[in-house]
Amino acid sequence: MPASPTTDPHAAPPLREIGRTGIRVTPVAMGCWPIAGVTSINVTEEHSLATLEAAADAGINFFDTAYIYGYEGESERLIGRALGHRRGELVIASKCGLHWGPDRTQVRDARPETIRRECEESLRRLQTDVIDLYYLHAPDPATPLAESAAALRQLLDEGKVRAVGVSNFSRIEQYEEFNAVCPISADQPHYNMLQREIEADRLPWCRAHNVSVIPYWPLMKGLLAGRITRDHTFDPRDGRRKYPIFMGQEWERNQDFLDRIRPIAERQGRTVAQLAVAWVVQQPGITAALCGAKRPEQIRETAEAMNWELTDADLAEIRDAIRLRGEVASRPAVQ
Ligand SMILES: NC(=O)c1ccc[n+]([C@@H]2O[C@H](COP(=O)([O-])OP(=O)(O)OC[C@H]3O[C@@H](n4cnc5c(N)ncnc54)[C@H](OP(=O)(O)O)[C@@H]3O)[C@@H](O)[C@H]2O)c1
Repeated sequence: MPASPTTDPHAAPPLREIGRTGIRVTPVAMGCWPIAGVTSINVTEEHSLATLEAAADAGINFFDTAYIYGYEGESERLIGRALGHRRGELVIASKCGLHWGPDRTQVRDARPETIRRECEESLRRLQTDVIDLYYLHAPDPATPLAESAAALRQLLDEGKVRAVGVSNFSRIEQYEEFNAVCPISADQPHYNMLQREIEADRLPWCRAHNVSVIPYWPLMKGLLAGRITRDHTFDPRDGRRKYPIFMGQEWERNQDFLDRIRPIAERQGRTVAQLAVAWVVQQPGITAALCGAKRPEQIRETAEAMNWELTDADLAEIRDAIRLRGEVASRPAVQ
């Protein structure tokens, strides 16, 4: 069970265990996709390095990246450069099985030889000799899942990775099949106040099998940070323009939802981003939330959410706001 958080934003963050691995992480992790600069705009190396340092300085000990984060592995390389000197204090998660094709489209390839090659390359980029948590990024329809699982099991047995996770699975049978070959310690699905599909079956399965759930999109790609105004026009280079949640009527309804939850945060001197993250990490079965950031001030803000315990009254008010908002048109994304 996770330790109970405090309401002091500067208190040392309570650590939580990943599965039954003995690896202990802060409930807020830094998601290192935005610093790769693939879909996020105005990303600079200087800001990215400063954001990684700011995350560690704010007490975050958990960093999430992947082989595919950056066309040339920029995210893993930046982590190696910025955090190498404090590697021993940190938990680094990466992922394999997805890479960029020649036309810069994502290719799923989770053949055993690819998994091994990507792992070796990620170790070099990260300037480390072990990856703490290594996920299969997504199942590869052309490779039997058991073969991908066996490759990860071998890396685990060799000590190149300390624990194995899965991501973007859609059926419980996939978890069962993988787990029979290689023990799953963590699952990485998307989850936030408005996208809660995993509560139906995946979250209960993970809880029953001592698998940590470490969701992405706690901020719904920035929407639940509450700073993108109703009249915002997205830059044509901003990858979010293609998501229905940022379009038309869905966008208006999401803004109405933000208007309902904003007062809950404001009356406690907090921000909507902190409310959204605090809500995720307080849900049963959730070990940590992956909070993407590309600027130091963003991660400093979300880091403070790990020390905010929402009251029953806050949670009831949020529940009402979610009910009024209704279900969100959602689609899986691999990133
Ligand atoms: N397994 C998978 O397939 C998968 C898929 C997606 C993500 N992930 C992981 O999960 C992480 C989180 O996902 P994400 O980065 O896409 O989305 P997210 O955490 O929901 O949103 C991140 C974005 O929110 C905005 N933001 C963050 N903090 C803010 C703050 N305090 N105030 C205002 N805006 C703020 C920033 O965007 P702007 O500054 O541009 O507004 C930032 O890029 C990723 O970084 C990655 O590690 C994994």
